[in-house]
Amino acid sequence: MSIKNLLNTRFQHAMQSLGIPDQCSPLLSLSGKPQFGDYQANGAMGAAKQLKTNPRELAQKILDHVNLEGIAEKLEIAGPGFINITIKNDFLSASLSEPADEPQTVTQTVVIDYSGPNLAKEMHVGHLRSTIIGDALARLLEYQGQLVIRQNHMGDWGTQFGMLIAELELQLGQGDQAELALSDLEVFYQQSKKHFDADPDFADTARSYVVKLQSGDVHCRKLWQQFIQVSVAHNLEIYHRLNVSLGPEHIKPESAYNDDLGKVVKDLTAKELAVDSEGAKVVFIEELADKNGDPSPMIVQKSGGGFLYATSDLAALRYRINELQADRILYFIDARQSLHMKQVFVTGRKAGFVPDPVSLEHHSFGTMMGRDGRPFKTRSGGTVKLADLLTEAVERAEQLVRQKNNNLSEEDIKTIARKVGIGAVKYADLSKTRTNDYIFDWDAMLSFEGNTAPYLQYAYTRICSIFRKANLDIDGFSAPIKIAEPQEKQLALKMLQFNDVLDQVAADCYPHSLCSYLYELASLFMSFYEYCPILKEDVAPETANSRLQLCALSATTLAQGLELLGIEVMEKM
Ligand code: ARG
Repeated sequence: MSIKNLLNTRFQHAMQSLGIPDQCSPLLSLSGKPQFGDYQANGAMGAAKQLKTNPRELAQKILDHVNLEGIAEKLEIAGPGFINITIKNDFLSASLSEPADEPQTVTQTVVIDYSGPNLAKEMHVGHLRSTIIGDALARLLEYQGQLVIRQNHMGDWGTQFGMLIAELELQLGQGDQAELALSDLEVFYQQSKKHFDADPDFADTARSYVVKLQSGDVHCRKLWQQFIQVSVAHNLEIYHRLNVSLGPEHIKPESAYNDDLGKVVKDLTAKELAVDSEGAKVVFIEELADKNGDPSPMIVQKSGGGFLYATSDLAALRYRINELQADRILYFIDARQSLHMKQVFVTGRKAGFVPDPVSLEHHSFGTMMGRDGRPFKTRSGGTVKLADLLTEAVERAEQLVRQKNNNLSEEDIKTIARKVGIGAVKYADLSKTRTNDYIFDWDAMLSFEGNTAPYLQYAYTRICSIFRKANLDIDGFSAPIKIAEPQEKQLALKMLQFNDVLDQVAADCYPHSLCSYLYELASLFMSFYEYCPILKEDVAPETANSRLQLCALSATTLAQGLELLGIEVMEKM
């Protein structure tokens, strides 16, 4: 159990025995400054208010009742009734030596909807945030023992595909191979758009193909299938390069819900949620009314009979609840789709598709900006292909690694460059508060100083090199820990907070807290390493071994944390 949870339990006990009502929490938190102890319990004030008694006196009573034998070395009341707790060094030493907590048994089925690129075009930077933030949460929740089901809601359906398959038919008719014709989806898209705009016959064919495709016409389906296959392969390649844990088995595209869309609309109509409006079927949502009191409209079927993005999302919601048995559904989608998500959630609940205890969560994020403060674009103003961005990241990282010139083999340089370049791009995103826009800046993300992936990866290699120098194997190393110096204590406290941070990220889905944690950990490690000699001659062997053990644990924690973010480490760089 984490120290925080342990303290919490002990304080709860004490408060209960004093007759303080259960809903009064001990309010445990880390203390901001070492002079106020290591942890604080701030619940006495709230409890005193409830009981209409003096907070400092109540804090004293709690102190008299709480059993922190062997855990705390000092307990102090400060200000109006804060309780400052200083943890014993021996308790920290013992806690660090305990085997890690057993993974929990599965408690929840969590469906995570992320990435979801549109297959009509090549994956661009707009899909980067959803892909890497969603993947971090999937890894983290899985590590905690939840049953995670990844759902890649790819956009493979809709009007654009009529135009695209008409173009594919044209190019195949000229003897081209599908793979070749579609090798650059961007170019292919431009070509088909040009035909569509310039040639009325082509446009007619394109429009008729949309209808045929949706009604299951064999020829159109075959063309569409070919198109989708190539586009999906592009995406899977990107996931692989990005070290993202999405595979073909996680793809559940929009078209998968095709057969259910009519039923969804029928259901909504029977429940009088969807009504006829100018030939279309529309749900008017009072709960999301605007300032004038006008309900928010959500179209679920167009007048021509076609279904919409919202209809698929409602069908997906039903599938996730009925078939996947989700307890919690997380959507990592751009903030610009907030209204859409609200409409889907409210309607899903009102229609009875979603049982009350199931949690529906849209975790939105801001836009990736260029250094000029505008949405990230190429120099000529086009959308940046993700593939090109990743190539550039690895090239830039390779230059940096070569500058360090550490007698590495060509093969090592390539591997390290890949891990550093990709890690830098992912970490730059994950370390920013999710809901804000952020500026994409190559120099900042590839810096070896500050809150960056290269800094953390470098800290990890530093520890590996200590073990190399000592001729020891870091993985097999084990020695008793004895915390004595303040730098050792700060490092130990930080390491023991790892699971608290994971709990927090699992709940609020803000991975930047894990990044800040790892950055603080690496910084505390650096100052520990500076102040506490290890391999010097005058260091007693027990002390040296204890410090080596702290090094090994720091390395494990860093590597584990980075792995949860989808970032790899290396032994040298
Ligand atoms: N394809 C969508 C887009 O690119 C994202 C899909 C997100 N998931 C969902 N269930 N709507 O905007």
